[in-house]
Amino acid sequence: MPATILVGTQWGDEGKGKVTDLLAGRTDFVVRYQGGNNTGHTVVAGGQLLKLHLIPSGILYPHVTSVIGDGVVIHPGSLLEEMDALAARGIDPSRLLISGNAHLVMPYHLELDKLTERYLGKHRLGTTKRGIGPAYADKAARIGLRMQDLTDAKIFREKLDVVLKEKNLILTKVYNRLPMEADRIADDYLAKGERLAPHIVETSGLLWRALREGKHLLLEGAQATLLDLDHGTYPFVTSSNPVAGGALVGSGLGPKEVDSVIGVAKAYMTRVGSGPFPTEDFGPDGGHLAEKGAEIGTTTGRTRRCGWFDAVLLRYASRINGLSELFVTKLDVLSGLPRVRLCTAYDFEGERYEDFPPHQSIFHKAEPVYEELEGWAEDLSDARSAGDLPKAARAYVARISELGGVRVRHLSVGPERDQTLWLDG
Ligand code: IMP
Repeated sequence: MPATILVGTQWGDEGKGKVTDLLAGRTDFVVRYQGGNNTGHTVVAGGQLLKLHLIPSGILYPHVTSVIGDGVVIHPGSLLEEMDALAARGIDPSRLLISGNAHLVMPYHLELDKLTERYLGKHRLGTTKRGIGPAYADKAARIGLRMQDLTDAKIFREKLDVVLKEKNLILTKVYNRLPMEADRIADDYLAKGERLAPHIVETSGLLWRALREGKHLLLEGAQATLLDLDHGTYPFVTSSNPVAGGALVGSGLGPKEVDSVIGVAKAYMTRVGSGPFPTEDFGPDGGHLAEKGAEIGTTTGRTRRCGWFDAVLLRYASRINGLSELFVTKLDVLSGLPRVRLCTAYDFEGERYEDFPPHQSIFHKAEPVYEELEGWAEDLSDARSAGDLPKAARAYVARISELGGVRVRHLSVGPERDQTLWLDG
């Protein structure tokens, strides 16, 4: 059986958690392939709401093995907190597998994330301050520590001593902060490593063998296409590769193992943090989306910026990820708007751009070209098939599909599992 990639097509928060939940019933492994605890989704566990940041939500299903792949960066304290919270609600976290190649988020990464953002002032990225950028930077600079180092105290200490010497120079000389103590970090991380050791394995071979045994894998991205380090709205991006290509690198699988790429798009756009957002709406319509869509971040509690659906970016996401199909979420949020808008192109200095602009400055100043469609007043939350939707809502979704060049196969009209429409029956 092949693997399926699940990827966000916008700036994150498209509702991938709900899609994973729906697909988990028919999969054997859910694999996270990038990011860290900078993302999050709320799940219902043991009858209570629980926020998961690192652990794939597949953990809620006894038949699913949850895997944190090579491309993820892990803050061990946060991971253990999530594992404990699951155990306290009667969910066994022992089926969690973690790649030994996954990099560690260290205390100096958190500190440097905060200090760099402060230093950047009005040019700050609006990061989640979870140390993600500095951890990936050290990985690329080849001075990162990995999960496997937690199982070898001598090696861990050797690597830490080398890297901490440089970090302490930066902390004290550049930022005028106190140095960090190697002993304290080593004691803390190695103690956590002892608890995590039974979960640390070589995951890429394990996944490859699982596929040969007829198992199905769901490779689940965090963040989304426009936050991709290479293909997003750089530098206002995260430091990893959420796009479908990143799923292969971050889980150690070859492209022939994958047979479908499911994109998730919210029926409008949102963004947290800084960066260009051509269709952002500062008026009452944007307010409607924020309020009705409850657009507040799971990880940081920040209010999300809201705006109209951008079909230029969907076309781009469709191409970059090689999307097989699209899952559109939160269509119900648009109910009550007298008319809805779709961005079909951008105008900049007398030129029209129908694809992702080739220069960042164009993207920053682009004027969206809108197509206006009739809105609908009806509440959609009870719709269960396309026939239950008002004509205007059907026309809106059909136009998204046409402009994006990708088939919409599922629609979501609420958070519950049964508030999902399967468009091809
Ligand atoms: P970082 O990933 O914490 O370095 O933050 C970089 C950018 O990505 C910031 O604009 C964040 O707001 C954004 N970001 C990171 N994770 C998420 C997410 O899960 N959803 C939406 N935006 C995110």
